[in-house]
Amino acid sequence: MSPKKVPAPVAKRLALYHRCVNTLLNLGKDTTSSKELGERLSLKASQIRKDLSYFGDFGKRGTGYNLKYLRESLEHILGINKPWNIGIVGAGNIGMALSNYQGLIRDGYKVVALFDRNPAKVGSFVGTQKIPIYSLDEMCKKIKELSIEIGVIAVPAEHAQAVADKLVECGIKGIVNFAPVKLYLKGATLEDVDISTSFKALTFKIWGGIPDKSATSASTTKSVNARDSFGKT
Ligand code: NAI
Repeated sequence: MSPKKVPAPVAKRLALYHRCVNTLLNLGKDTTSSKELGERLSLKASQIRKDLSYFGDFGKRGTGYNLKYLRESLEHILGINKPWNIGIVGAGNIGMALSNYQGLIRDGYKVVALFDRNPAKVGSFVGTQKIPIYSLDEMCKKIKELSIEIGVIAVPAEHAQAVADKLVECGIKGIVNFAPVKLYLKGATLEDVDISTSFKALTFKIWGGIPDKSATSASTTKSVNARDSFGKT
């Protein structure tokens, strides 16, 4: 099935299945079931079977899934049965942290270049892999030379759209955006990453907030009164 026809949440779950299958293989197991995967991932077994059924038939009734075959299939589906070269724009906290993240390398994503507008950073190297930092002028040339297919945006929000446009102009087909801003792209696929959204989702779940109108109007009254009393003094 074409990835465009698969609902977006399925793609995220497939990545979780891949991680879980790896864990089970590292534990020395040969087979698993949708029940076991479901228990480990807090998902319904039926959900897992449905997600996998978009791509074919991976298990046998009674014996479950062969883990090595399932991993191979998931890697093919997720497109990680081949290496991907990555270029990061913004060699700051996020850019540096990603460059050193071993989890990316394990899945076949290789950061081969960083790009930054700060001349003091250009020409230096990042991390144990000694990844070079290039200037923005060199971006298109290096993207072609180093066969970079994925761009990462790790610059302040106000510069993110211009950086995205430049990446697309240089032929990048996929962008992971860390900047907290909505980007508009033509001709490239975008994936946003925002840790503060996860924090907000978490505090919403803990707090369960339905706005308390009486509290809001009380606090409004209070602040108006406070301003009033300030005005009077
Ligand atoms: P930083 O200030 O440490 O690094 C930014 C880097 O971008 C600097 O090296 C700077 O020289 C460079 N830069 C600025 N404008 C540029 C441009 N037009 N072209 C190329 N390079 C440029 O910032 P940090 O902490 O690494 O954050 C980067 C972005 O990630 C920010 O937008 C921040 O809000 C966001 N962020 C996102 C998180 C998430 O969960 N998605 C978490 C933390 C930060």
